[in-house]
Parts: sequence; structure tokens; C-alpha cells
Amino acid sequence: MRLLLTNIKSLCQAETGTERKPRVGGKEMSTIPAIEHAWLLIEDGRIHSFGEMKDIPETNASQIMDISGQMVLPAWCDSHTHLVFAAPRDKEFEDRIKGLSYEEIARRGGGILNSAKKLNDTSEEELYEQSYNRLQQVIMQGTGAIEIKSGYGLNLEGELKMLRVIKKLKENSAVPIKANFLAAHAYPIDYKQNHDGYLNLIINEMLPKMTEEGLADYIDVFCEEGFFSVAETERLLEAGAKYGLKPKIHANQLHYSGGVQVGVKHKAVSVDHLECVGEAEIEALKGSNTMPTLLPAAAFFLGIQYQPARKIIDAGMPVCLATDYNPGSCPSGNVPLLLTIACTQLKMTPEEAINAVTINGAAAMELENELGTIAIGKRANLIITKKIPSLTFIPYDFGNNPVDKMILNGELYSG
Ligand code: NIG
Ligand code: FE
Repeated sequence: MRLLLTNIKSLCQAETGTERKPRVGGKEMSTIPAIEHAWLLIEDGRIHSFGEMKDIPETNASQIMDISGQMVLPAWCDSHTHLVFAAPRDKEFEDRIKGLSYEEIARRGGGILNSAKKLNDTSEEELYEQSYNRLQQVIMQGTGAIEIKSGYGLNLEGELKMLRVIKKLKENSAVPIKANFLAAHAYPIDYKQNHDGYLNLIINEMLPKMTEEGLADYIDVFCEEGFFSVAETERLLEAGAKYGLKPKIHANQLHYSGGVQVGVKHKAVSVDHLECVGEAEIEALKGSNTMPTLLPAAAFFLGIQYQPARKIIDAGMPVCLATDYNPGSCPSGNVPLLLTIACTQLKMTPEEAINAVTINGAAAMELENELGTIAIGKRANLIITKKIPSLTFIPYDFGNNPVDKMILNGELYSG
């Protein structure tokens, strides 16, 4: 199968040299390399070659698409989601409008515990069906790789159910999926006063079972006041490491929790959220390979402070953006909307925001050799935009979907 795209208005995030950038940071983030008026050839699901229309070679493509006026970008890499959940939490949304905070709702047994109850009452089949539909929806908004967490089971059976659903999604979906084991999302009611008991359950029962079935790629902990302390987080990360699981953790969402520092210390692939980030956190991140991942759509939806993206980028570091799609703090996996929030609220430029959710998103899932840019040999998971005037138009045209067609594994995707 050879698919040739011709008359591409702009082939964005194209890597022409032989060197591949595994991530971009600081000033590099303000550029999206592009080839104007381009062609692109895909063979057997991979990017075969590309260049300017004036140099287009003779080729025996099996399918040719003339897409004048339309741009091509690498698909979004959404590196932080909780897309597998059983029910919405619209009632809590109302409670928050009336003045209750996210933390107060959690303390009263709502929030994550509410989702856990619903998940444990839902069959694996029903959960799969719902999650598959959500995945289709975000793919049609441009997502071409995604990380999905467990964390609404909070017991062996429920966590297994979630991870098996994620495994089934991996098997049946056209996009690469990373599974993140997040039993340490909240203490279940029965363990509120017995933290050790829950940590032992995770370490001695859940972790061995998950890894025996090969269900998890990463381990996550919600390191936050009222959830898991730094010491508890360390214990869990050490246990995960024994099973070969690298961390990607929830850090510094509501407080200066020490989550960033403990994540960096344990060589986390990413530390995510980062609403509360000051000099100490930036110092800890500097020189590490841990990706600072910002989730501003969750801050938007909760009405809390935004992440200091400018401080991090201006300190020369990379920034990744992800949706945090979940029923409580961000019931949307819409990356184009996330880009608008990043530009308007975090003052990221459109180029920075797009780098953050393509190559840096890929790096935050260790998929930078596969996805995130348009480079020879990479997997052809691509967005063909509608006819748009510029890249800036994507975050500018907020609430609308810039995607005309998705190409996944080299083929036009119809859902
Ligand atoms: O990333 N902060 C912790 N976990 C999720 C929200 C989970 C929920 O409220 O259901 C988050 O925002
Ligand atoms: Fe999250």
C-alpha cells in the first residue's frame, strides 16, 4: 500500500535532516519546521519520503490524494488521560458551581471515590464499549497516540477490570496506547485510616497480578495533600521499579506537594499537572530527563490556577501538554481546545503548544522514535486539516475541529 498526498499546503513538523529530535525545549519550542507546497509518500504504514511539489518524483502509488489548501501534521500524542471510566460526574460540576471545591467534594466521599463506586458496579463489557466510543471521538479530533490510566477500581478486581479494558483497547484500536497503573489515585473508604493496608494491597497483590498479565507500562501515584504523601509515593515507586515499571506521576496539582522532586528522584518519565511550581521545582527538573507535563484543561475546568508554562520554557526546558480526560476535573479529551487554553491562559505560542502535544507528547510516552514528527520511517499517524490559513488558526478557531481526515498506520481512518 502506497499512499501519496500531493499539493499539501504545509507539511508541518517535518524533520528533513538525518538527526531526530527526541524532544524540544526552551527556544526550540517556538519553531515548527515546515515544508510549504509539499508531497508525502506513505508505504506500509510508515512515512517513506516527502519534499516540495516542484521536486515530486515519479511514483507508482496505489492511492493519490490531492489536498490543496490543507495542512498535514503529526497526530496529537495525548500522554495523560483517564479515558476508561464508568459514568459522568455532572452533579459534582453543579456542586462546584455552587461553591464546593474539588477537594471538599473528595473529602465528602465524592470525586474519585464516586467514580470508583460506579466503575465497580459496571461490567467489563460496558466499560469497554463506553471507552472505545470515547477513543473514537478523540481520534476524530486528531489524537493518534494516547496514555490511559487505571485508578477508578481501587481494589484488585476493579483495577484489573480497568487494565483489561485498556489492553483490549490496545488490541482493537488503530492508535498506540500506553497503560498506566494508578491504584494510588485515592485511599478507598475502608483504608482511609489504614494507609499501610492499602499500600500493602497494591504492592503485594495488585502489582504482581498486573505484571503477571502484562497489563501495565507505567506506575502512577497521585502525590498530593489528602491523597498520597511523598513517603508513600516513594514506597510505591520503589515497588513498581522492582517490576520494571517506570513512573509517570500526578504532581503539584493542588499544593507544593514535593511530587515533582520525588518524581525526578525516581527518574519519572513525566511529572504531570504542575499548577504549583516554583523555583525549587524548576531546579529539580533542570538537567533531568523527566518531562514536565501540563494539564491546563483540568485547571480551566476546576477554575484553579494555571501552570507556569512560560517560566518552565523560558528556563530552557521542554513542556508537554496533555488533556487529563477524566470525569471529574476534565471531561474532555479535545486537544484542539487544550491548545486554545494553553495559548490564551498559559501564554504559550501556537508553535510551542503544538510542539508540546506532538513531539513532547510522544516523548512523555517514550514513543518519540515512532511518532510526534513527520520523519522518514516513523509511523504514519497524521492529521489532514480542513482548509485553514495557518497553524495559528487551530488554537484561534476555538471550539471547532480543525481535522478533516485522520490517517492512521498509513490508511485513511473512518472510525
Ligand atoms: O488528573 N488529580 C487526580 N486525578 C485526576 C482527576 C480524577 C478525578 O477527579 O476523577 C486528575 O485531575
Ligand atoms: Fe490525571
